Amino acid sequence: MATGFELILAAICLNSTACMQGIPLQNNSDTMQFSMISQNGNSSFINILDEKKTEMAKQNRLKEMQNWLNGRKLRIATIDDFPLSYTEKKNGEIVGKGVSFALVDFLAKKYNFTYDVIKPDNDIIGSSYDMDKSLIELLNQSRADMAAAFIPLLSLIRQHVAYSETTLDEGEWIMIMQRPPDSASGSGLLAPFTFDVWILIMISLLAVGPIIYGLIMLRNKLTKDDSQYPYSLGHCVWFVYGALMKQGSTLSPIADSTRLLFATWWIFITILTSFYTANLTAFLTLSKFVLPFNEVDDVLKAQKNFVASRGRGLEYAIKTENEILSKLNTMVQKNKVEFVNTSDTTILRTFVEQKSFLYIRDRPATDHMLYNDYKFRKTIDIKEEKIHCPFAKAKNPFMTKKRAFAYPLNSNLSLIFDPELLNLVESGIVKHLSAENLPNAEICPQNLASTERQLRNGDLMMTYYIMLAGFATAIVVFFTELIFRCLNARRERFQDEEFLRRGNVKNIAWNKNRNGIQTLSNNNITPPPPYTSIYNQSRQLMQNLNRINEIDPEKPAVKKLINGRDYIVYRNIKGENQLIPLRAPSATLFQYSYVD
Ligand SMILES: *[C@@H]1O[C@H](CO)[C@@H](O)[C@H](O)[C@H]1NC(C)=O
Ligand SMILES: *[C@@H]1O[C@H](CO)[C@@H](O)[C@H](O)[C@H]1NC(C)=O
Ligand SMILES: *[C@@H]1O[C@H](CO)[C@@H](O)[C@H](O)[C@H]1NC(C)=O
Ligand SMILES: *[C@@H]1O[C@H](CO)[C@@H](O)[C@H](O)[C@H]1NC(C)=O
Repeated sequence: MATGFELILAAICLNSTACMQGIPLQNNSDTMQFSMISQNGNSSFINILDEKKTEMAKQNRLKEMQNWLNGRKLRIATIDDFPLSYTEKKNGEIVGKGVSFALVDFLAKKYNFTYDVIKPDNDIIGSSYDMDKSLIELLNQSRADMAAAFIPLLSLIRQHVAYSETTLDEGEWIMIMQRPPDSASGSGLLAPFTFDVWILIMISLLAVGPIIYGLIMLRNKLTKDDSQYPYSLGHCVWFVYGALMKQGSTLSPIADSTRLLFATWWIFITILTSFYTANLTAFLTLSKFVLPFNEVDDVLKAQKNFVASRGRGLEYAIKTENEILSKLNTMVQKNKVEFVNTSDTTILRTFVEQKSFLYIRDRPATDHMLYNDYKFRKTIDIKEEKIHCPFAKAKNPFMTKKRAFAYPLNSNLSLIFDPELLNLVESGIVKHLSAENLPNAEICPQNLASTERQLRNGDLMMTYYIMLAGFATAIVVFFTELIFRCLNARRERFQDEEFLRRGNVKNIAWNKNRNGIQTLSNNNITPPPPYTSIYNQSRQLMQNLNRINEIDPEKPAVKKLINGRDYIVYRNIKGENQLIPLRAPSATLFQYSYVD
């Protein structure tokens, strides 16, 4: 651990160029002063002397190490883990690149050593049960002097190698997934109101019709005013529904109290629909974007397939008992998890894009990967942001683990490297280097900034369902109407026969009339009375007229055809001609069949 004293030494070291030739052994009064400052004056002089002695021993050991390192060639193992560590071939020689080798190069320059880069054949970190051709096997068998890679701190690895005391960073494993469609889709049309509000609207829709009907009836009963026609219950319910849909109705009440009832409902509907419209607009344009998977538990619950790099920290964190993610081991046993050894781009294109797996990868690799993908897609289509960003990352990390370099267990290199690494980490160089070549702006944020959102079929699904449901109900109602009509017709024919048997002709006519069905073609009904009986009527009338003495006896009443109509013409005692209209036989027929 770095004491305050060491930090101060390091500060001097970083500021002075002389430092590059090695840590100056300060065996003078300056050291005394530093140690007194660092102890804040709360220790005795003896303590200071003791400390100075151990400090001296340490300095001597460092000096020894420095000399031993000077001009030496180390073997440094690494794995491909862009951008933290990766290798390139140059003139047949493997050259280490990435953040790790930026740190190693700094150490090499400072302590004047050179190094060879070696890679494990399987390109995996390795663990107790996965040692073959791994990075830690190289270290454990002392085929490498150190591992320059960001190795997560895991218990099973710690048994075989020694981590550097300085942790380089805290790795965050992030879920990458296909970008889901915007959240307000499908249920979007119901989104403006909560469930309670919808229920209450339904209740008011059902209740207001009967209430209006009841109030109209009550009013008619109390006022005995027949200027307001009492609407039927069906009309009232239909009015309420029509007003809710802003369609109006043909009902136009005359009584003021009924008008007020109607107007109240209209006001309610106006407010309700304007709220609905406004809120729906807001939901469709400003709706919050919600990812389906945000943390480990979401994945576990949905048993969602995911993919991760083979032989890296995440695999060991899942497969090792009592590790942080060992609860996911059941999913591994069900073959829901794949650990693959291909490039990030391949995984992204095949597993995430085509098979819609989740991809779990650590930062900063995720940022670089998504940025490269974004740049590639930008060449396909310049405008459409949705096409540029087919992937989304979860905000919460899937796992966090500290990461460090590793040495063989008995190595003495950590003694000299770790304090230097600490200085570098504290200066923020790791963060800076890992974000190199990335833009400052966030690439493909969760909420894409595209302002206009066109409605897709998914958004309108609800309306389609409503249409289908409406048509289906109408068809069902239509068929029930048909069935009832058949039943009614049969029953009526039955009743008619019954009546006929009783000779109750009048009743039949009434029945038919009420149902509005033309009955003349019906054979069961007796034909209209003969014309003669109708003419007899007029003759009788004439005889009656002639009998009363209001008529001039010299001019008896006669039947005449005037303008195509029959009239009885007679002259009254004042000598004026008077006409009495006689009905045409067809009018009698009409009267017979419809009015009785
Ligand atoms: C440091 O000082 C001690 C006496 O205090 C002396 O014996 C020793 O040689 C000095 N070491 C160096 C490296 O100057
Ligand atoms: C460091 O360890 C190596 C063996 O790993 C050994 O040869 C060397 O002498 C040691 N150096 C010091 C200064 O102890
Ligand atoms: C650095 O090491 C090289 C050998 O690799 C040696 O020739 C050179 O003198 C060393 N430089 C210092 C300052 O010790
Ligand atoms: C290799 O690992 C074993 C434990 O599996 C350990 O006992 C041994 O010391 C390690 N060797 C080195 C050189 O680190």
